[in-house]
Amino acid sequence: MTNILITGGAGYVGTPLTARLLSRGHSVTVYDNFLYGDDLAAHDRLRKVEGDIRDTPRLYDALWGVEKVIHLACISNDPSFELDEALSRTINFDCFEPMVEAAKTRGVRRFIYASSSSVYGVSDAPDVTEDHPLKSLTLYSEFKAMCEEVLERHRSEAFETVTIRPATVCGYSPHMRLDLSVNILTNHAVNQNRITVFGGAQRRPNLHIEDMIDAYEVLLDADPQIVSGAIYNVGAENMSISAIAETARSIVAEAFPEKGEIEIVTTPTNDLRSYHVNSDKIFHALGFRPKRGVADAVRDLCAAFRAGLIPDAMTDPKYHNVKVLKARQAQ
Ligand SMILES: NC(=O)c1ccc[n+]([C@@H]2O[C@H](COP(=O)([O-])OP(=O)(O)OC[C@H]3O[C@@H](n4cnc5c(N)ncnc54)[C@H](O)[C@@H]3O)[C@@H](O)[C@H]2O)c1
Repeated sequence: MTNILITGGAGYVGTPLTARLLSRGHSVTVYDNFLYGDDLAAHDRLRKVEGDIRDTPRLYDALWGVEKVIHLACISNDPSFELDEALSRTINFDCFEPMVEAAKTRGVRRFIYASSSSVYGVSDAPDVTEDHPLKSLTLYSEFKAMCEEVLERHRSEAFETVTIRPATVCGYSPHMRLDLSVNILTNHAVNQNRITVFGGAQRRPNLHIEDMIDAYEVLLDADPQIVSGAIYNVGAENMSISAIAETARSIVAEAFPEKGEIEIVTTPTNDLRSYHVNSDKIFHALGFRPKRGVADAVRDLCAAFRAGLIPDAMTDPKYHNVKVLKARQAQ
C-alpha cells in the first residue's frame, strides 16, 4: 500500500485512475481545484484537498506522508490554454518548479509527470521515438516540454522522476471529456448522425483510457534503476483523423442500427499536429504494451451512451473544458 497524491485527480484521466488505485489498496490524495466539477466516488482511503497547484504552501501541507506523486493538473488542451495565455502559463509552467521542490522537500520518493506527445508537433519521420527533436507548435506543448527539463534538473537518488508523453486518450470516464478526437467523433456519430472531420490526413497516436491507467500503475511500481530520469511515449494506434472517423461510423452504425445513415463531412483545419509515435521503449524497459484500441474505446462509449451515462452530450458545456472556462470568464 502506497500513499499517492494526484494533482488534477478529479479530471478525465484522474477520476478513473483514482478509483483504480483505491481498488488496489493504495491511499490516494486528490489535490484539485475542481475547475470542471467532481465526479470522484467517496472512499475511506480517498482524501480530497481542494487547492490550486499554484498555492505551494497548501500543496506542501497536502504532501505530508505522500510517497509518490502523479502530476496531471494543468489547462489541458490548446483552445483552453489560449483563452488566457498569461493565466495558463502560471498553471502549466510557473508553478511547476515550486511544486517539484515542495515534493522533494517533503520526502516524496517518486514524481510522475504527464507531459504529452504533442511536444513532437509535426514530423514526417516514420516513427517518432523519445529522442526525436521536439517541435512544439503551441504554447501548451512548449510548456509541457519545458517542465520535462525542470523535472530532470531535480532528479536525485532519493527523488526519482519519470515523464510520460501520452497519446490522445479516448474512451469512457465517469468524468467525461467530449473534446478529445475519438470521443468527439463518436459523440457526433451517436447524437447527430454526422461526423465533421477537420483536415483528416493528420496522423495522431491514440490511447485507450484503461491503458493510460495501466501505464501509471506500471510506473508507480517500476524499478527506480530503470525508470528514474526516463521519458516514455505511451500510445497505441497511430491513425489519421479520417480513419478514426470511419471506425467511429462503422461501430456506431452497428451499436445503434436504428439511427440509419451516418454522414462524414470534411472541412479544413489549422490544427496541423501530425506525428507517428513509437512506444517500444516502455515495452522494452518495463514490458508495458497497450491492450486496447480505438475501436474498443468507441464500443465502450457506445455502451455508455446507451446506458444513459453521458446525458445531454450535445448541449451540456461540462464535457468541454474550453466551454466551462469561457463560462467562468464571463461571470
Ligand atoms: N487527455 C488526453 O488526451 C491527454 C493526452 C496527453 C497528455 N495528457 C495530460 O494528462 C493530464 C490529465 O489529462 P486530463 O484529460 O485528465 O485533463 P483534465 O482537464 O480532464 O483534468 C485536469 C484536472 O486538473 C485540474 N486543475 C486544473 N488547473 C488546476 C490548478 N490550477 N490547480 C489544481 N487543479 C487544477 C482540473 O480541475 C482537472 O480536474 C494533463 O496533464 C494532460 O495534459 C492528457
